[in-house]
Amino acid sequence: MAPGKTDVAIIGAGAAGMMCAIEAGKRGRSVLLLDHSTKLAEKIRISGGGRCNFTNLHTQPENFLSSNPDFCRSALARYSPQDFIALVEKHGIGYHEKKSGQLFCNDSAQQIITMLKSECDKAGVTWLMPCQIKDICPAGTSHGRSTEGNTDYRFLLETERGTISAISLVIATGGLSIPKTGATPFGYRLAERFGIAVTPLSPALVPLTLSPDLLAVFADAPGISIDVSVSCGKFRFRESALITHRGLSGPAILQISSYWRPGNSIHINLLPGLDALPILLEHRRSNMLLPNLLAHYLPKRFAQDWSRIVMPAESGRPVSQHSQSQIKQIATQLHDWHLVPDGTMGYKKAEVTLGGVDTRELSSTTMETKKIPGLYFIGEVVDVTGQLGGFNLQWAWASGCAAGRHA
Ligand code: FDA
Repeated sequence: MAPGKTDVAIIGAGAAGMMCAIEAGKRGRSVLLLDHSTKLAEKIRISGGGRCNFTNLHTQPENFLSSNPDFCRSALARYSPQDFIALVEKHGIGYHEKKSGQLFCNDSAQQIITMLKSECDKAGVTWLMPCQIKDICPAGTSHGRSTEGNTDYRFLLETERGTISAISLVIATGGLSIPKTGATPFGYRLAERFGIAVTPLSPALVPLTLSPDLLAVFADAPGISIDVSVSCGKFRFRESALITHRGLSGPAILQISSYWRPGNSIHINLLPGLDALPILLEHRRSNMLLPNLLAHYLPKRFAQDWSRIVMPAESGRPVSQHSQSQIKQIATQLHDWHLVPDGTMGYKKAEVTLGGVDTRELSSTTMETKKIPGLYFIGEVVDVTGQLGGFNLQWAWASGCAAGRHA
């Protein structure tokens, strides 16, 4: 049976939920942490390829997407990457910077889960997992009020393991990506039931798919990785892109996917840091075939396929048989190859969900809803989405901490 009453009930024992539980517990609040999953924090376990990119040293509000870009400032300022690093060091977890401020565990993401679990236990948190939630009564309903003392229990949770009255209710149920990790739309649905707006949702940090025609050209290229610079609108990322059986993936593509909308084109610079035109002009009298020349700068199979796309008729000719204007055109395409992706690989392959609980509904310092006192939303369920590189977990820690210091 569940304990009947608690100061703070947190739904979702993932990154944000555990951080919130630790902070609230340290303040002497009784905290109940509920999760429907049998396994603790599956998303942390699979994060960073199993090594958990737990923060980014260069975290700035600019690393986040939201319909209200300033919302994340306050929470991020009050719980910094250094704060989380201090916790990691206190637990003796070895870590390293991979690149661009991205910090990873030396050994395993499981160390982060164990650390958070032990901090929760130290803060006196009560666990209720696995546990299905059947219903939640909002504040103001007659059965959501305590009959004893003068403390208001604003929320009544009906669970498969009993009924719980809570003064504060924190929703930390995360986004929709990778359903097999236990992801559900619970948080979004609850928000809507409570009259709280949710911005449109879509998969983000997700591989992009290509049309069957393009895939046919790249039929023998899957697995090829290229260092590119890719842009969509005013956003640009210099990382690697990977050709897959369904389209494009790799860090550069995952990053740009968060800014891409159906119908938009993405622009790929295949030779960032080089100037293609002088290179091509230098070889303008050469008898080398164009793909063979490009193969000095790009993976050979990709150079062949790409030449067939941009110069279908001429790709089999020596460079010397290309006119000056064709050479200029090839150089332009090498630096600005336009592609219109077909779609995305969806939530099954996405790292995060773009959109979420509308930040205009929340206090940026506490994450409490403005309409319903005592109700909080934290982590990925909120309309704050980080770029690739440890930013999403930093948001989970920071927003969890903000709510835990107040709930
Ligand atoms: P999180 O998803 O962690 O937790 C939500 C919890 O709510 C889960 O335990 C779930 O079981 C529970 N829940 C859901 N519905 C429920 C219901 N109906 N009832 C009860 N409980 C329910 N980020 C980063 O910064 N660095 C990285 O290296 C990576 N790597 C990465 C890899 C992959 C493959 C994915 C899918 C994602 C990442 N991320 C990442 C993103 C990061 O993992 C994610 O943004 C955070 O875990 C979000 O934290 P939350 O606590 O908000 O949700």
